[in-house]
Amino acid sequence: MNRIVLVTGGGSGIGKAVAARFRADGDTVIITGRNPERLAATAAELDVRSIACDAADPRQVADLAAELGEHLDVLVNMAGGNTDLQRSGEPADLEQVKDAWRANLDANLLSAVLTTTAVLCKLRPGGTIINVGSIGAENASTSYGAAKAALAAWNAGLSAQIGPKGLTANLIAPGYIEETEFFHGQLSEQRRTELIDATHNGRPGRPGDIAGTAHFLASEGASHLTGQTLHVNGGAHTTR
Ligand SMILES: NC(=O)c1ccc[n+]([C@@H]2O[C@H](COP(=O)([O-])OP(=O)(O)OC[C@H]3O[C@@H](n4cnc5c(N)ncnc54)[C@H](OP(=O)(O)O)[C@@H]3O)[C@@H](O)[C@H]2O)c1
Repeated sequence: MNRIVLVTGGGSGIGKAVAARFRADGDTVIITGRNPERLAATAAELDVRSIACDAADPRQVADLAAELGEHLDVLVNMAGGNTDLQRSGEPADLEQVKDAWRANLDANLLSAVLTTTAVLCKLRPGGTIINVGSIGAENASTSYGAAKAALAAWNAGLSAQIGPKGLTANLIAPGYIEETEFFHGQLSEQRRTELIDATHNGRPGRPGDIAGTAHFLASEGASHLTGQTLHVNGGAHTTR
């Protein structure tokens, strides 16, 4: 196909797999991230375009929108992660609690809101926005889970807002996905086993599982599917 696809956070992990999936279809793909070297290496590997951009920085997101062409067909808001995993120890005071919560809200909620706001006018009818939440939103005692839960709530309202323009918005909520940098080397073997044991199919998710779902959401077959959260987790969390 010849769609124009923007994948924020496309330099590694799930975003990289999503970019590769659309590129394999012949789409024009642009990936973003904060680390320009890694981004450029991934872009060269996948034969896609890269633009360095911190999705939580309004000025950088405005610059990104200006650098993109006039049209876009698919926006994948993949940029994010649990910023608590990059902190050492528990917050010592309320200032540190505030900083920790703000960091996860910026990384996982604001990043998608800013990017979507900046490029919405470029999306052509038939286009789609794919937000990426988390199974962590289902028991959100952490700032990461709360941020992803807020993202899912916002996604539903976004769908109502853009539906009349012929656009759809959905959120993919992955369970545990291996082969990513999400855990920053902090996932113990015991916790990994627990996460896999929680699935019905007894295996970890892989970036390709999410890429396949994103590709479906951007297909004609999903044109009446909007405002939804799709759980891709091997049954680790089920819905009615
Ligand atoms: N892996 C899992 O088990 C899992 C489960 C549920 C949900 N998720 C979600 O899936 C998404 C992808 O994560 P992943 O597992 O593929 O981990 P990953 O390999 O760490 O990928 C995250 C990507 O997002 C980019 N990124 C982070 N913050 C950014 C920002 N402010 N602006 C632009 N890019 C940013 C990172 O690149 P830079 O550092 O270069 O910016 C990185 O390429 C995240 O939203 C995560 O919360 C992952």
